[in-house]
Amino acid sequence: MAEVKLENVHKVYEGKVTAVKDVNLTIQDKEFVVLVGPSGCGKSTALRMIAGLEEISKGTISIDGKVVNDVAPKDRDIAMVFQNYALYPHMSVYENLAFGLKLRKYDKQEIESRVRKAAKILGIEQYLERKPKALSGGQRQRVALGRAIVRQPKVFLFDEPLSNLDANLRVHMRTEISRLHRQLQSTMIYVTHDQIEAMSMGDRIVVMKDGIVQQVDAPLALYHHPANKFVAGFIGSPTMNFIQGTIVQNGSLRFLQERSNFALPVVPGKEQKLKSHIKSQITLGIRPEHIYAQRPSGVESVSSFKVTVEVVEPVGNEIFVYFSTGTDSQYVARIATDTPPEVGKPFEMFFDTSKVHFFEKATERAI
Ligand SMILES: Nc1ncnc2c1ncn2[C@@H]1O[C@H](COP(=O)(O)OP(=O)(O)OP(=O)(O)O)[C@@H](O)[C@H]1O
Ligand SMILES: [Mg+2]
Repeated sequence: MAEVKLENVHKVYEGKVTAVKDVNLTIQDKEFVVLVGPSGCGKSTALRMIAGLEEISKGTISIDGKVVNDVAPKDRDIAMVFQNYALYPHMSVYENLAFGLKLRKYDKQEIESRVRKAAKILGIEQYLERKPKALSGGQRQRVALGRAIVRQPKVFLFDEPLSNLDANLRVHMRTEISRLHRQLQSTMIYVTHDQIEAMSMGDRIVVMKDGIVQQVDAPLALYHHPANKFVAGFIGSPTMNFIQGTIVQNGSLRFLQERSNFALPVVPGKEQKLKSHIKSQITLGIRPEHIYAQRPSGVESVSSFKVTVEVVEPVGNEIFVYFSTGTDSQYVARIATDTPPEVGKPFEMFFDTSKVHFFEKATERAI
């Protein structure tokens, strides 16, 4: 059992840099929670405070119901895996795995049993006698994970452990870590700036910006119901398209882009919420996959637009089409490979208006 609870946690470095601001978060026992956000948003700081490597400026952190603010890192029963997981180069893999346990004075048999078990879980049994320099990057990464596993901690903390690996290996290792989580059934907190890693691994995702938690939710809930414009833009690739405009009532409610005649009807389901925003500044958001190059069948609420195609990026199973609608803004659509439009030519694009998001311009909150 290991629930990790952060209550009103703040971190101010040197009395001036506020790195983490009033974070309230409960990570349940056995949960896999990912902290994600752009560089400098306070992810590592939050994790390091949980580990006890960084003092908490204000608030409390508890593990398993016990406040740990003043508990030394070694007494918190956590294990952390970093991006730079320096292994001891002069020790064998076995010795690297055993080292932490030896320091803690575990008896030889217990160490041997834990090392063998971890090596088996990670598929590195055949490398136990090798030195780290005779291993591939992925194998070394597994040894680093193994050092955490042998500790059998209540909580695993990961700070961008896969950033040094190449793209293929990263994808592979992220499924390994997910498998490890299912197998070990422990609480895991994982930091990354990569939203795809976050989406594919987390039971829940914590999106941070400027030290502030923006939203905590399951991956698809974040994707479909972003709480604000930042989360909407951060989750999803290519990123959501944003269009500035106002809501006007002309019989029915419509969204009208500034300085153009780009207008989208507001679908009935969203009318009620937007009524109180008539004439106010609004940001409309639409994901690239909800813009089509052909009238989509089975979708009722479609608006079509004449656009100018500016860039066509084939990525294999689909094409990213960058286009404009007559203003200087550029938008992107993800379309199927069978209909590549020509650059520079006028083209018709179809927006699924039931899939748009609306945000207050001033607060950026979702409406
Ligand atoms: N020891 C420190 N002293 C002063 N400021 C610090 C210190 N460590 C971090 N910061 C600042 O705190 C903020 C949060 O840093 P943190 O390392 O937590 O970000 P991060 O989200 O992990 O970013 P990255 O994705 O780049 O690792 C940043 O503005 C950073 O410059
Ligand atoms: Mg960091």
